[in-house]
Amino acid sequence: MDTEIVSVDNHMDNSLSYQRAVDILKNGGVVAFPTETVYGLGALATDEKAVQRIFEAKGRPSDNPLIVHIGNKEDVDKYAVDISEKAKLLIDKCWPGPLTLVFNKKPGVIAENVTPGFETVGIRMPDHPVALQLLRVLDGPLAAPSANRSGKPSPTEANHVLTDLHGRIPLIVDGGRTGVGVESTVLDMTTVPPTILRPGGMTREMIESLIGSVHAEAKSPGEEAPKAPGMKYMHYAPESPLFVIQADEKAIRDAVGMLQEEGKRVAVIGPDEFDIDGADWYFTVGPLHDHEAMAANLYRAIRQCDLTDADIILAAETDMGGVGDAVMNRLIKAADGKRFPI
Ligand code: TXA
Ligand code: MG
Repeated sequence: MDTEIVSVDNHMDNSLSYQRAVDILKNGGVVAFPTETVYGLGALATDEKAVQRIFEAKGRPSDNPLIVHIGNKEDVDKYAVDISEKAKLLIDKCWPGPLTLVFNKKPGVIAENVTPGFETVGIRMPDHPVALQLLRVLDGPLAAPSANRSGKPSPTEANHVLTDLHGRIPLIVDGGRTGVGVESTVLDMTTVPPTILRPGGMTREMIESLIGSVHAEAKSPGEEAPKAPGMKYMHYAPESPLFVIQADEKAIRDAVGMLQEEGKRVAVIGPDEFDIDGADWYFTVGPLHDHEAMAANLYRAIRQCDLTDADIILAAETDMGGVGDAVMNRLIKAADGKRFPI
C-alpha cells in the first residue's frame, strides 16, 4: 500500500483533503491526523473491522484499549453513562483539550475491540483545528491511539508517522507540528476520587483546581498504573539505551567524557543553555526548567537520536510538577528506569 500525505497546514481550501480522509474512514480504513498532543491513527469507532486495522498497522497488543475522539462535548452521552457532576465540570472547562476521561460505557454503541474486555471507555475532545474539522466532516467518533509503531515515541510531526507507518496506512493528514507534544492525561472518573492513570498534557494542578483532589495511581514517576493497560508495555524506546541524568552541565560533561573513554559515542538530550561541546550529538529540548518546551520537543529529540550512530543516550531530567509529571513519566519509560551513573 502507498502512503499518501495531504497537507492542510496552509491557507488553501482543504475541503477535498478532508473529504478524501473521510471517504477512507467511512469505507473502513485508517487515517493519521494531528491533535494538539500527538498525531493519532484514527478509525471509525463503531466499525470493528476498521478498528482492527489500527492494531495491525501499529503492531499494538489487542488488550490495550483505544481512546474515542469526539467533535462535540454533547456527544459524550452517546457513548458513556454515569457522568458525574465533577466530570461535567471537567468537560465544560477542559474540553477541547488534552484530557481523556474514562467512563462506564454505554453498551452496544462503540465497537467491542475499542475497549476489549472493558466496561469503560476513554473519551476526549481534541483541541486541534484539523482534528475537529475531520470529526465534523466525518460526523462520527474516531478511535485513535498515537500514530507510532507500538513501543516507539508518539509522533509529533507527519514525518514521524511516515517513518513508522509507511506502506501500512493509506493516508496522513499533515497539519504541521503538534503543540503539546506529550499525550493526553487519562483520568478515570469511575473511581472516588478520580484517578490519574496516565499523566499528560492536562496538569494535575489544573484538574485539582476544578474538582478537588484526585488519586495518582502512579505514585512516583514511571511507576505502573495497572488500570491503563498501555502503561505496562515498553514505551517511547529509542534504538540505543537511554539513561536519565541530572540536569547539571558539569555532571553531563563528565559523563560524556567517561563514556567516550570507554569508546562509546554519546548523544545528549538537554536544555538550550548547556554547552556540552564534547558530546557526539546534542539535541536541545528548550530552555532549562521549561516543562512545556520539553514536552513539545522530547519525542522529536528521541527520534533524532535514532538517526545517529550513538551507542548511548543521556537525557537531562526536568523537575516534577505541571507538565513535568508527564515529561518525567515518558522519559523514565524511554530509559526503562535506567539512570546515570548506574
Ligand atoms: O493524546 C492522546 O491521548 C493521543 C492522541 C492521539 O489523542 N492518544 C493516545 O492514545 O495517546 P494511546 O492509545 O497511545 O494511549 C491511550 C492510553 C493507553 O495507556 C490506554 O491503556 C489508556 O489510554 N486507556 C484507554 N482507554 C482506557 C480505559 N477505558 N480504561 C483505562 N485506560 C484506558
Ligand atoms: Mg501511544
